Amino acid sequence: MVNAPIGIFDSGIGGLTVLRQLIKQFPNETFIYVGDSARAPWGNKDKALLSIYNDQIMTFLKSKGCKFIVVACNTSQSYFGDRASQKFNIPSIGLIEPTGKRISQISTTKEVAIFATDGTIKTKSYETAILREDPVTIVHNVPCPKLVPLIESKQLILEDLKAAINEYLDKLKGTHCDTIVYGCSHYPIIHPLIKSYAPAHIKYFIDPATCIVAPMKAQINALNLSADPTKKGEIHFHVSGDIAQFKSACEQFEVPITSLNKVTLD
Ligand code: DGL
Repeated sequence: MVNAPIGIFDSGIGGLTVLRQLIKQFPNETFIYVGDSARAPWGNKDKALLSIYNDQIMTFLKSKGCKFIVVACNTSQSYFGDRASQKFNIPSIGLIEPTGKRISQISTTKEVAIFATDGTIKTKSYETAILREDPVTIVHNVPCPKLVPLIESKQLILEDLKAAINEYLDKLKGTHCDTIVYGCSHYPIIHPLIKSYAPAHIKYFIDPATCIVAPMKAQINALNLSADPTKKGEIHFHVSGDIAQFKSACEQFEVPITSLNKVTLD
C-alpha cells in the first residue's frame, strides 16, 4: 500500500477529461494535477521548448513525492514518450499506446482519423501505435491547430469553433473513415459539437481517457502502488494561468477540488 499521490499534467484544462475518468475509477487515490495554462497551447511549440516545460512539471511532481505519473498531454507524450520513468524514475502511463490497442477492436472499415495537435501529428505517434496492433488500418492524420487556443480562450467564440471543426471534418470527405480519435485531451470537451457536425459515416468517437483505466489499474496493482482502500482520495490542482477560469472548468466536469493553487513553473 502506498498513499503517495498520483501526478497528472497537461498544458491546461485538457487533462481534466482524463482526470474525470480516473477519479471515478481510483476513488482512494490522491491526485496532483498540474495545468500549465499560462503557457498553453503546447501543440504548436517547438520540441526543445516543450522539453523544458515537460521537465519543469516533472521536477515539480517529483518534489511532491508522486508515485506514478499520468501524462494527460498527448503532445508531450508524443515527443518525450516514457521520459517520466526513464529520466525521473517514476512509473507512468500515457494515452497513446492503450488507445492504439483499443482502435483495432473498434473500427469496422479499418479506416480511422486522428484529430490532434500539430506536434502530435508530426510525430505520427498515434499512427504508429495503431499500425503496431493492426498494420492494415488506414490512418488519416488531421492536425487541428485552431482548436486548443479556442478551447482555452477566456471567451469562447462559438462561430470560430464551429468553423474550425467543419474545416477539419472536411478532410474526411470521400474517405471510409468510421472512427475519430481525440488525439488531444482538450478535444473531448467539444465532443458534442464535433459529433453534431460529423458526417454520417463517422460512427465512433474515441476519448483515449477511457482506454487507460484498465492498463493503469493493472500497472498500479503489479507495482503494489495502490492507496489504502479505506482512505478517500484528494485532488490538488496547481495551475500556472487563470485560477478562476480553471475552477469553472473543474465545475463543468464535476471534478471536486481539495485545493487549487497558482504555480510558477520556470
Ligand atoms: N492537451 C494537450 C494534448 O493532448 C496539449 C494541447 C495544446 O496545448 O496544444 O496534446
